[in-house]
Amino acid sequence: MEALLPVYEEAAVSRFYNDALVAAVESVVAALPPGRLLCVIEVGAGTGGTAASVLPSLELSCARYTFTDVSEVFLRQAEPRFARFARFMQYELLNIDADPRLQGFAAAQFDVAVATNVLHATPFIRHTLRNCRRLLRPGGLLLVNEALATSAFAQITFGLTDGWWLFA
Ligand SMILES: C[S@@+](CC[C@H](N)C(=O)[O-])C[C@H]1O[C@@H](n2cnc3c(N)ncnc32)[C@H](O)[C@@H]1O
Repeated sequence: MEALLPVYEEAAVSRFYNDALVAAVESVVAALPPGRLLCVIEVGAGTGGTAASVLPSLELSCARYTFTDVSEVFLRQAEPRFARFARFMQYELLNIDADPRLQGFAAAQFDVAVATNVLHATPFIRHTLRNCRRLLRPGGLLLVNEALATSAFAQITFGLTDGWWLFA
């Protein structure tokens, strides 16, 4: 799968924005009081392009990194790939279009939520953002790495997937 879908990790644009996300995570880590560890959730983590970028920066500062996706296949692929970070990795199904509390997630348990190119694949962005917020502690951060405009190229490639057209 990785060999087939390097686009979220190796394309120049993906690298640029994943690096920006890493910089944001590193600024959160740098502001932590001594001994404080972060609980992080990634929504729609998919092929793991963003996780691969941010995990090295969290290695010493993470109590828990919950790698989630609506599709189980990505969780199965991610677990061996990120075995080096097994101390703090968890893998869970999560549909961010629905209330996480109804999917086994306690409210307000994460310091940081990361979402790369997933929030647009839901019908109602307002519901989706509310669901992200439910996962966060007061003062928690949602780091969104998301396309804000479309293009002909995107329409004839990603536009072939159902998720592209789910917005209402
Ligand atoms: C465009 S891919 C991005 C994958 C990953 N964030 C990355 O950058 O490598 C979108 C991902 O969102 C997931 N997804 C789609 N709808 C979702 C939903 N309602 N809740 C959670 N994940 C979803 C898909 O399974 C897919 O893995």
